[in-house]
Amino acid sequence: MSHQIHTAVIQLPFKKYFLIDLLLVLLLTLVSHLKEKARKLDMSPLKANISKSYLTSNSEACSSQEIFLLILVFSSPGNSSRREVIRETWANVTQVKGYSTRVLFLLGRPPTEATQLEVTNETHRYQDLIQGAFLDSPENQTLKIVKATEWIVTFCSSAKFILKTDEMMFVNLPGLVEYLLNLRTHPEDIYLGRLMHHEAPNRDPQSHSFIPLQKYPEDYYPDHCSTTAFVITQDVAQKIYVTSSEVSILLPPGVFVGLCAQKAGVRPIHSSRFSGKRHIGYNRCCYKFIFTSFVARDSQLLQEWQDLRSSKDCTMLETYYGLVSCKLPKSHNCSILWVQDYPTPFGLFNSLHYT
Ligand SMILES: *[C@@H]1O[C@H](CO)[C@@H](O)[C@H](O)[C@H]1NC(C)=O
Ligand SMILES: *[C@@H]1O[C@H](CO)[C@@H](O)[C@H](O)[C@H]1NC(C)=O
Ligand SMILES: *[C@@H]1O[C@H](CO)[C@@H](O)[C@H](O)[C@H]1NC(C)=O
Ligand SMILES: *[C@@H]1O[C@H](CO)[C@@H](O)[C@H](O)[C@H]1NC(C)=O
Ligand SMILES: *[C@@H]1O[C@H](CO)[C@@H](O)[C@H](O)[C@H]1NC(C)=O
Ligand SMILES: *[C@@H]1O[C@H](CO)[C@@H](O)[C@H](O)[C@H]1NC(C)=O
Repeated sequence: MSHQIHTAVIQLPFKKYFLIDLLLVLLLTLVSHLKEKARKLDMSPLKANISKSYLTSNSEACSSQEIFLLILVFSSPGNSSRREVIRETWANVTQVKGYSTRVLFLLGRPPTEATQLEVTNETHRYQDLIQGAFLDSPENQTLKIVKATEWIVTFCSSAKFILKTDEMMFVNLPGLVEYLLNLRTHPEDIYLGRLMHHEAPNRDPQSHSFIPLQKYPEDYYPDHCSTTAFVITQDVAQKIYVTSSEVSILLPPGVFVGLCAQKAGVRPIHSSRFSGKRHIGYNRCCYKFIFTSFVARDSQLLQEWQDLRSSKDCTMLETYYGLVSCKLPKSHNCSILWVQDYPTPFGLFNSLHYT
């Protein structure tokens, strides 16, 4: 494959080859300039006027210990019951194999004062909420992503990995942490999740998520990870924050992150262990293998957690049959960097490939 590309370049006339070379150098300069900017981020002006941007900044949430994986759960202010269920189930994990995890909920401002009083009460009770000063509405979800990255780079720059997810998801924290621990020792440029490939903008003017041509003229969005759950490394959070001012905030949140990553030269990595918006049928060994599943009902989340928590580990063979039974959605065929992570009856392949 790389050999073929090499030959093709050689066969181009000298001038064209030179041009491609020049463009490549320009692109690399741009990306390294951006990396430098991301490294040198100065968040002190924001810190000085913090009450303007946050109702609750929870600025100390990361300072007490070294955090390996920070989990930001996007939640709506009125959904305290769901947050309660999440605290009682998958989020009730503070470390895996000695590596710390921290779950925080990110909300905006509710439309009513009554809800705000309840949120304030919850804030004092659990100290796991971050509340931005923006209105938490369906239209403001991309703004919420920007606020999340701003918060990460300002108050949690020591966290190695960050999982962005939302309140409808089940997350297998032990499985995810073990997977991340197996990556290279100094991981950078990681943007991992369920890949959305060849997704077309909504061109139906009647729809509330209508994207007119002026907002996005191309036929397809760039490859990006589903916003239901994706993992980034700290350097990627910084790069996204730096590039976020160059991307339209009117685009859907997942596309927005994808475009920021693209500008920073970061490629999304696909893992089929992320479910996207799908519910994965419950099977004990399947749920110990996958990273996420969409779970609509609170009672279902509680019930499945009871079973998961009380059960023993699964053998490779049990995992294999578990995955067959829960019909884990297969990955698509596209030439991207992907993670082959299906167990087979002969073992688990867990390596990065270029296809
Ligand atoms: C904080 O906000 C005030 C009023 O907008 C402004 O005058 C001041 O310069 C800001 N402080 C910092 C450190 O940015
Ligand atoms: C709150 O969570 C429930 C699931 O428990 C979900 O069905 C509902 O849509 C959520 N409400 C809002 C406003 O997001
Ligand atoms: C969280 O897990 C611990 C055991 O690890 C348990 O004692 C505790 O009751 C759990 N908390 C909730 C809210 O379920
Ligand atoms: C917060 O809510 C709980 C339960 O609804 C209630 O018992 C408690 O008094 C409230 N605390 C404050 C400070 O309002
Ligand atoms: C988004 O949040 C801003 C800041 O609170 C608010 O002014 C604006 O009305 C919100 N937009 C929508 C569409 O809700
Ligand atoms: C995926 O790739 C296989 C072989 O490379 C091909 O037979 C199949 O049609 C492809 N599927 C899709 C959905 O493109």
